Amino acid sequence: HGTSKINSSNHLEIGQCDTVELKKQYGTPLYIYDQELIETKCKAFHSAFQRSGFSYQIAYAGKAFLCMEMANLLTKLDMSLDVVSGGELFTALEAGYPAERIHFHGNNKTIEEIEMALDANIGCFVVDNFTELEVLHALAAERKQKASILLRVTPGIEAHTHEYIMTGQEDSKFGFGLSNDQAMKAVSSALEKPYYNLLGIHCHIGSQIFEVDGFSRAIDILTDFLFNIRDKMDFEVKVLNVGGGFGIRYTESDSPLPVEYYVDALTEKLSRTLTEQNYTLPEVWIEPGRSIVGEAGTTLYTIGSTKEIPGVRKYVGIDGGMTDNIRPALYDAKHEAVLANRVTDKKDETVSIAGKCCESGDMLIWDIDLPRVNQGDLLAVSSTGAYNYSMASNYNRIPRPAVVFVKNGEARLAVERETYEDLVRKDVKPVVTTYAMS
Ligand code: LLP
Repeated sequence: HGTSKINSSNHLEIGQCDTVELKKQYGTPLYIYDQELIETKCKAFHSAFQRSGFSYQIAYAGKAFLCMEMANLLTKLDMSLDVVSGGELFTALEAGYPAERIHFHGNNKTIEEIEMALDANIGCFVVDNFTELEVLHALAAERKQKASILLRVTPGIEAHTHEYIMTGQEDSKFGFGLSNDQAMKAVSSALEKPYYNLLGIHCHIGSQIFEVDGFSRAIDILTDFLFNIRDKMDFEVKVLNVGGGFGIRYTESDSPLPVEYYVDALTEKLSRTLTEQNYTLPEVWIEPGRSIVGEAGTTLYTIGSTKEIPGVRKYVGIDGGMTDNIRPALYDAKHEAVLANRVTDKKDETVSIAGKCCESGDMLIWDIDLPRVNQGDLLAVSSTGAYNYSMASNYNRIPRPAVVFVKNGEARLAVERETYEDLVRKDVKPVVTTYAMS
């Protein structure tokens, strides 16, 4: 998908860059981002919204993948940005990302993080709970600075996805409950507070969702809530943020809808429901992460040792693993891969791809058909752009890979490969003592 191609040397090419050359220049493991595909996805979201007639913001969910290069690209693509920590906020600000387009999420923003965001004068806070509702207001009041907020509510929807990435159900650490009146209490409290500008309501029902059904139910529930607010408080909100969660293709068994389809369905439904109730909603916001970067990312590895257990299985070792892609171990996620240096060679073996970490669960792909592999072959694992780099770790003291963006035959380094020196940089050097033997 994207700009991936097989070139005349039978090598995998992304953004017209030969992956064999990328390995020579940057080493492996290497995260390769197809910039054109990121741009295509953002533009598809934009054009769907433009058709809808709603004013809108598309806030890219930085948790999926963020670095300064990505923040810079988002600025050019007219995207807003959802951050969930001081670290993500810092990254965006360092990259010169416009603060007014930043939305700050999180169920336990610290006082330091809130102060940092107030200092930067970000676009809005998505307030998650009653503690935050008080704390943020107190800090804003102290500075006599108005804070724009959305209130996050839990609509009680269980999207069909992995339990760990479900977020819309009522028994969740996120948001104000709708069925138990907490959300209405939060609205009334926010409206009473002089240093709040209550922009609207937010919900996020889950991640890697393939149908529009869950979003459609969320809209029914949320619009009911908006009508309720109008009846009880005589207040109409400006913004409805329906979150992210649009699914992508990891393997051929996934069949996501094109991104614009979700937006068309959402906005059509919303438009109908609001018109029936004579409600004017100026803005609709969304927060896609995975659907923007997931398919644009490919991880390139070098194959090293193999181990064959006759009649049982052949393990093929790569120079990365759960440190750069925790998703198979954590969510039982599935990926596809090709031999990047011999893409169309006959696939005559079924092998399993093993990471290099010291634990048996570090397996990237079970049972994949590949050409007979040799040490030094390159393996390209696709759809690794979302939540791979961002969840990478230094387990086993393995340095994090480099990140490159490719487009039109040019590769641009976005994040340097970590070095061993980086790994010990924060270690406090022990005082070397000579023990006298007695
Ligand atoms: N908005 C909110 C409030 C969220 O919690 C999330 C994701 C998003 C937007 C973006 O969702 P997306 O469009 O990327 O599906 N680490 C897991 C995913 C966790 C998602 C958490 N929240 C994974 O690797 O699948």
